[in-house]
Amino acid sequence: MAQQESGRAAGAPGEGQEQRGKYFIRTFGCQMNVADSERMAALLTEQGLDPTDNPKEAEVILINGCTVREKAVHKAVSTLGTYQNFEVNGRKPLIGIGGCVGQLEKDSIFKRAPYLDFVFGTDTIDQLPEIVYRVRKGERHIVYTDFDKTRDYSTETKVVGYKAQAFVNIMKGCDKFCTYCIVPFTRGREKSRLIDEVLNDLARMAASGVREITLLGQNVNSFGKGNPNEKAREPKELQNIIGKVGPRAGEENFPQLLRAIDADPRLKGIKRVRFTSSHPLDFSDELIECYARAEQGGVAKLTGQLHLPVQSGSNRILQKMGRHHQIENYIAQMDRLRELNPDVGISTDLIVGFPTETEEDFQQTIALLDRVQYDSIFAFAYSPRPGTRAEKLPDDVPNDVKNDRLNRLLKHQLKIAEGRYASRVGHVMEILVEGEAKNQNLGKTREVPENTRVFMGRTTCNRIVNFVNDSPRNLTGQFVNVKITGATALSLQGELLHDSAFAEAISSRGPIPKPLITTEVVQ
Ligand code: SAM
Ligand code: SF4
Ligand code: F3S
Repeated sequence: MAQQESGRAAGAPGEGQEQRGKYFIRTFGCQMNVADSERMAALLTEQGLDPTDNPKEAEVILINGCTVREKAVHKAVSTLGTYQNFEVNGRKPLIGIGGCVGQLEKDSIFKRAPYLDFVFGTDTIDQLPEIVYRVRKGERHIVYTDFDKTRDYSTETKVVGYKAQAFVNIMKGCDKFCTYCIVPFTRGREKSRLIDEVLNDLARMAASGVREITLLGQNVNSFGKGNPNEKAREPKELQNIIGKVGPRAGEENFPQLLRAIDADPRLKGIKRVRFTSSHPLDFSDELIECYARAEQGGVAKLTGQLHLPVQSGSNRILQKMGRHHQIENYIAQMDRLRELNPDVGISTDLIVGFPTETEEDFQQTIALLDRVQYDSIFAFAYSPRPGTRAEKLPDDVPNDVKNDRLNRLLKHQLKIAEGRYASRVGHVMEILVEGEAKNQNLGKTREVPENTRVFMGRTTCNRIVNFVNDSPRNLTGQFVNVKITGATALSLQGELLHDSAFAEAISSRGPIPKPLITTEVVQ
């Protein structure tokens, strides 16, 4: 899963004056933390505070931290330190830490960062207004890190401002307990929302102009486990190569959610549905069939993209990681998927340097890249995490070997991605425009004409396309077609087509998303 960071700031009303204060949020970690920061921002905005992307003008500063690798924790804690001497209107900001770091560290973090005012966890985000109220009243060292012990999970997505793309939590927690992973300890046990609740949530979002959603959970394809299938949604026994997995007949399941989204007339405005993340063990035949073309029984809105973390190409290492899947099964799943949808863009997560990993194991991971032909990979050097089963194994792959394997893996993947991206040149692709490109230079392939800006969007397969926006409109949040003219290993370049989709895009009053969250990869 992509690892990310975000920026946003509370108010000290002057005497008798209604001065709105500001809050700033910095986010590390995965999309779940990004979605949680959206929620924090929405709650603080409802409390009467304004967002800022400058921590120096914020009265309330939040760090939403990630603890998946040791380096990420250090980054969050050292970032905290940089805020301790800030002052707004002669007063120190109120500083809090949340997310997986808050959940894991609880009050122990006050020893490392005594200037910190409060700590909150992954299940107490909705109590943030209460926490902020208390610290503004002068209380210090407040800790809100209890897990919600109820079996149900019910929520409503909150975002700030209008957006064309939105993250929607459909389940939370993880029951897999892979031996290296801290997430089950920071996010608790798996719980899923009910399909009907998700549909009502999405209907509200569609009405506000959302065009693309990403369904979120640590393992979305085990969605529905334990939830009764209250409506007759053709309950099927979920099968995969390994056997029966995930929810059973009579329980709601993830393919049923996808099909219900496709069929709901209130969700016409939502054109694309993505999801992340998933586990090969719950990647059922029924889910693979959703990737078929709509005429062949597939889910029309499901994008041609799959992020299916595999972690290693070696069965010996997979077994030590407690992944409970074998590489042959994973390859068979990928083959079946490509049979149904040859152009699907597949990405994965990989760990190198897991305890006892040999060069031979590593070569099996390289061979897996060649076999599956990923569009992109997220690769990490193994980092022992406290309390996990793998922490008890000797961390016997030296750091220089881990880094060398990481570099070789990334280099190998770049060559594969180059070939895959180059094969798209000449194709016409539909993209959802996300805004101006960070890099205003279109590579060596094209000059950028004066008075025009380079914009970027994503294809259904999640490939980034940069193009010159020669239209009178900003186009952010609109679907347009581009003809692909060039490619690198990381992105495509295209030419905006002035066709019927373009005519619709420039005539529509679609929302222009306000960029409130910035992201940073912490590895
Ligand atoms: N639930 C998802 C899954 O199973 O793929 C995402 C898990 S985690 C938030 C994202 C990625 O971080 C994992 O897929 C794994 O590659 C990596 N990761 C987790 N624990 C790690 C560790 N101790 N050291 C290095 N990488 C780790
Ligand atoms: Fe971590 Fe494994 Fe759960 Fe993913 S499935 S969050 S890697 S324990
Ligand atoms: Fe995500 Fe990091 Fe937590 S990857 S679930 S924010 S430990």
